[in-house]
Amino acid sequence: MVDRLTLPRPDDWHLHLRDGAMLRGVLPETARDFGRALIMPNLVPPVVTGADALAYRDRIRAALPPGSRFTPLMTLYLTEATDPDDVVAAARNGVIAAVKLYPAGATTNSDAGVRVIDRVRPVLEAMAGAGIPLCVHGEVTDPEIDIFDREAVFIDRVLDPLRRATPGLRVVMEHVTTRQGIDYVRDGGPDIAGTLTVHHLLISRTDMLAGGIRPHFYCLPVAKRAGHRDALVAAAISGHPRLFLGTDSAPHADPAKESACGCAGIFTAPVALPLLAALFEAHGACDRLADFTSSHGATFYRVAPNRGRVVLEKPADPEPFPARIDTGAGPVTVFDPGGACPWRVTEIQEE
Ligand code: DOR
Ligand code: ZN
Repeated sequence: MVDRLTLPRPDDWHLHLRDGAMLRGVLPETARDFGRALIMPNLVPPVVTGADALAYRDRIRAALPPGSRFTPLMTLYLTEATDPDDVVAAARNGVIAAVKLYPAGATTNSDAGVRVIDRVRPVLEAMAGAGIPLCVHGEVTDPEIDIFDREAVFIDRVLDPLRRATPGLRVVMEHVTTRQGIDYVRDGGPDIAGTLTVHHLLISRTDMLAGGIRPHFYCLPVAKRAGHRDALVAAAISGHPRLFLGTDSAPHADPAKESACGCAGIFTAPVALPLLAALFEAHGACDRLADFTSSHGATFYRVAPNRGRVVLEKPADPEPFPARIDTGAGPVTVFDPGGACPWRVTEIQEE
C-alpha cells in the first residue's frame, strides 16, 4: 500500500486568482502547495496588454504570504484589438507565458473575447512565429448548440480550422471535458496539449444534478456524462506527455453561486493535490502522479521543473478539509466530491 508520495513541487497550468480582497483570500491556498501557476486574465476589466499583466503580477506578488517563493506566470486576454507587437514584446520580456482565447460569451467575463477568429489572425501568426502558446477555452457559443455538445463542436468548427490555418501555433486545449477532446489532443501532434481539472476528473453531470442541484459543482465547460469523465481519468493516469494538471480553480463568493442564476466556477485549490493522490491511488497509478502534476506541463511550456518537493501522506486522524474559506470578498465553498480523502499535504521541502 502506498502511504507516502513525494512529488516535485507541482504547477497549476490554469488558475483564477481574481483581484483585491478575493486575491488576498485565495492566493495562499495555491501558493502553499504549488510552485507556479498560470494565471487567467479574465478580470473586470480583463488583462489585455503587457502593461496590464505586469501590474497584475505585481499585485499578486504583493498578496503572497511572506517568504513565499510562488511564481505567478501571466497570460493576456486575447481581444479583437490585441496588438501582435505588444504580445511578442511581453513574451520576450518574460512578462507573459501564454495568451488566452475566450470565445465572446462562452464563460465568466468573456464579453471582451473573440467573436470572429479572422480578426485575431495577425496575433496568432505572430504567436506561432514566436512560439507563444495559445490557451483556448474550447466551447462554441452558438445558442443552437446544446451546452453539453459545445466542446466537441468547437473542435470541429473552430479549433481544428484555426490550427490548420496557423501551422506551428502551439495550443493548449484547456479543461478538457470530453472523450473527443482527449482524442484531439492525443492525435494532434507535438503542438497541442491539454489540461485537466481535478473536478472534471471526479464528477459527472449526474453528480451535479441528481438528487438536487449542486451549484458548487457547476462550472464551464459543464461536467459531462460519466463515460466522458472516465475517458479523462484514463487519459490522466495513462502518463500521456501532453496532458497535465490545470485546476481551473475559480473562486466565487457563495452568494454568487447559491443563486437563481449562479456563476460558473469551482474552487479546488485547497484540496487539489490530496484529491488527485486519492484518484491516482484508486487506479493504481501513484507512480504517474508526479508527471501529471509537476513535469509534463513544464515540458510543454518549456520551463525547468520547480525545485523543491511536496510530500503527501495519510495521517491516522486527518484534519477535515475546510468546507469553505473566508475571504475579504465573502465565504468561498471548497470543492467536496464526497467520500473520505485520506491524503494530506504534510510537508513542503524548499530547495
Ligand atoms: O467555470 C468556470 N469559471 N469556467 C470558466 O471558464 C471561467 C471560470 C471563472 O472565471 O469563474
Ligand atoms: Zn478557467
